Amino acid sequence: MKIAVLKETRQNENRVALTPSVCSQLIKQGFECLVEQGAGYNSNFDDSVYENAACKIVSKEEALTTAQIVIKVNPLSDEEINTIKEGAACISYLYASTHPELVQKLAAKNISAFSMDAIPRISRAQNMDALSSQGNLAGYKAVILGANHLCKIFPLMMTAAGTITPSRVLIYGAGVAGLQAVATAKRLGAIVECTDVRPDTKEQVESLGAKFIQVNTEEVAKVEGGYAKEVSEDYLQKQKEAVDKSLFQADLVIATALVMGKKAPVLITEAQVKKMKLGSVIVDMAVEQGGNCTLSEHDKVITKYGVTIVGKSDFASSLAQNASELFAKNIQNLLIHLATKDGFKWEMEEEITKGTLITHQGKILK
Ligand code: NAI
Repeated sequence: MKIAVLKETRQNENRVALTPSVCSQLIKQGFECLVEQGAGYNSNFDDSVYENAACKIVSKEEALTTAQIVIKVNPLSDEEINTIKEGAACISYLYASTHPELVQKLAAKNISAFSMDAIPRISRAQNMDALSSQGNLAGYKAVILGANHLCKIFPLMMTAAGTITPSRVLIYGAGVAGLQAVATAKRLGAIVECTDVRPDTKEQVESLGAKFIQVNTEEVAKVEGGYAKEVSEDYLQKQKEAVDKSLFQADLVIATALVMGKKAPVLITEAQVKKMKLGSVIVDMAVEQGGNCTLSEHDKVITKYGVTIVGKSDFASSLAQNASELFAKNIQNLLIHLATKDGFKWEMEEEITKGTLITHQGKILK
């Protein structure tokens, strides 16, 4: 089977979907790898390294018109869908439920499209879970970026000139990104607190040495497939009451709270920002889903009431080398699960195939 790796076209995207090392392993298993010229450059993988790994460097057109599987981080563009060979497969993020037009175009071109954001959260699919591999890196980078915007250091420092007290970091959401943010802020020496609606996260947060902020309510958040469901307005109000003291003392706030298929919950209002410390920083990682802070602006760093609010969403891309290495491993594991060098297995009732295959034989499957 011929696999093509395309150069990403989305603005600020530096990742590449397959690294030379993963290509080399796939080639040893009998696949052929075509790599669009310059595809890995922004993640520090030069064309020459792909060539040394036995890949063929090709034009975008050759990649799209000859490969049986086209691999990208972000979805195919309209131009790429127009050029891709009819009946080919593609693997990338798709976010199908929020991009119905894209899904229709892929189905119309008879593309079998697999979505990396739809990997089921089951043990045997953990090594394919790109949302986790990228979220983990993003949680790390969010803390580093937040620290960079602060005029303070994180750790306690006792010097002849006086003692510096540690910074206080508050984290909303203890999922993959949130827990890595907790761990990173702890490693840098901050006092870290964290809140989440899922009760099992208390133990996870505490195991990293941070304080879990408990919401005083009888309501237990529902969890489905590992994801938290929406909680009531009453819960959110009680959560604010429980967290406010920590919010108003925090130097850095990392907001990661998400609810699958919904707008991100609003956890920090303008009135709360007004009461935050002068010079404090909010990194709103949920900004693409509407933001956990009402003031956040997508892809912007703004200052309101003396608080810097970072609304970035390209954390993983800003760590393109490591992010590509992990994404490529996720793709390799999925690909080996779905296909052999001779073709796809098409096990349509198998959980991972069923979960990730969005369009096939001209039909939209979900
Ligand atoms: P996510 O990115 O969808 O959400 C982030 C966090 O926000 C979640 O922990 C969620 O509970 C929390 N949240 C939602 N509403 C909130 C609110 N009002 N206040 C505070 N926090 C709120 O979550 P992510 O990182 O994708 O992980 C979700 C779950 O999936 C976790 O239990 C994780 O351990 C599990 N998981 C399982 C995997 C597997 O079995 N293969 C792989 C990766 C994650």
